[in-house]
Amino acid sequence: MNQQTVLKNVLNNYAKAVAVGAYDSKLAGRGSKCDNVRQYWEDRYTRYVLSPPIRRLIERKRAENRGVRIMDLGCGAGEGWNILTTLPQTSPTLDAQFNSLLNESDIEFYQGVDISPEMIDKAISIHAHHDQTQFIVADLDRGLPVDSGEAPYDVYFSSYGALSHLSDDSLSKLVGDICQHMGDRAIFVADLLGRYSYEWPCYWGEISGKSITQQTYSMSYLYPPEMRNTEDVERFPIRYWGGEEIDRFLRMITESMNVKVGEFQLCDRSILVGRHTDTREFNPQISPLRSAINSLHAIDTRTDLTRLIFEYQPHPQHPHINRFFQNLESAWNSVVYGCMESLDMWRNPEKLLAEPPIEYPPIVLDSVRILRQLVNQAPNLHFDDPRANLIEPQLAYLLRNLEWNFQQGLGASHGLLAIYEFRR
Ligand SMILES: C[S@@+](CC[C@H](N)C(=O)[O-])C[C@H]1O[C@@H](n2cnc3c(N)ncnc32)[C@H](O)[C@@H]1O
Repeated sequence: MNQQTVLKNVLNNYAKAVAVGAYDSKLAGRGSKCDNVRQYWEDRYTRYVLSPPIRRLIERKRAENRGVRIMDLGCGAGEGWNILTTLPQTSPTLDAQFNSLLNESDIEFYQGVDISPEMIDKAISIHAHHDQTQFIVADLDRGLPVDSGEAPYDVYFSSYGALSHLSDDSLSKLVGDICQHMGDRAIFVADLLGRYSYEWPCYWGEISGKSITQQTYSMSYLYPPEMRNTEDVERFPIRYWGGEEIDRFLRMITESMNVKVGEFQLCDRSILVGRHTDTREFNPQISPLRSAINSLHAIDTRTDLTRLIFEYQPHPQHPHINRFFQNLESAWNSVVYGCMESLDMWRNPEKLLAEPPIEYPPIVLDSVRILRQLVNQAPNLHFDDPRANLIEPQLAYLLRNLEWNFQQGLGASHGLLAIYEFRR
């Protein structure tokens, strides 16, 4: 695919996504990106891992009596603003009021940058009432879009795979520009697509030798199933990253720019619930787990729990990734079966349930015990439909907890978040 076709496909793809309402914030349902998994798993995880570095930044800024400057790279409809202004406090409270770590009043300036004019129009229409926001159309392939003399940013942010649109050369230039433009310190957040997601084992490549890193992608999940394989769905190359690989890449650039890396985190987000688990476009073997988890969170909807069973086929070339997925598979399925057994016990109270096997990892033992207690108590609680509205959402949160605790930042997930604190 030549550069012009790539650009045309990317622009058409996002123009259509905006047209079908995918970027209308908080509008859930068909065609929208804002499903339960995005709201309750993905956005929450991004916030959870961003909170510690942002807390350190705010403490510094408040002490200096200065506001925070943010540049959102590939901002879409300005999702970065929504994520960053609703960060949880590190220890949750039960207060009536939710207090975000970073308040709107802490933000001096938020600049959103995107190549898609439709996205930028949508962002302006959503955020016009926030005085400190500005949105511009710019192509990150040409580097960081800053004017000479433009003040440095505290956070160079990206979310939901935006930087995976860039080739290695473009990303290298962008990071080099950030190193040049930043002040004494900056937080860089690269949000990328994970190379080792089970959504696309066909892209994992050989373990030795040079692998092809940019491969075809589509956002076919925004379309009804019967349209997903048609010409109407744009396809374009995307750079898939492993955790170690992006770490080496970033350190090479920062070193060459005399910038030091302070604290950093590599985080796998959406290991078993990426959007392409449902389309099965790149892996017909995968179970459609995202729709099953969406159903667990849905009010007044009962889910067939067998839909949640995860079956992993080992990859002949990647024993390390195989071990990771097999451990998660065993823990995940144990929790799902634990829930089924608890429900079965409730149906047949004369059947005595054995204690969960002691060799289970503690997180699995805890999850199974929580589910048993909940199933026992559910009939006494005043829920209209305790299975749909109490037990199933709790099961979803326990499975989410497993993903968050098992993740190792390998890139074995739909999204790979790389959060780096740069210092001069
Ligand atoms: C998957 S969307 C993510 C949007 C948003 N950050 C979010 O969290 O939903 C990727 C965004 O990157 C933008 N993008 C793709 N290539 C770009 C480029 N070369 N320069 C600037 N933006 C680009 C797209 O237009 C799109 O809005």
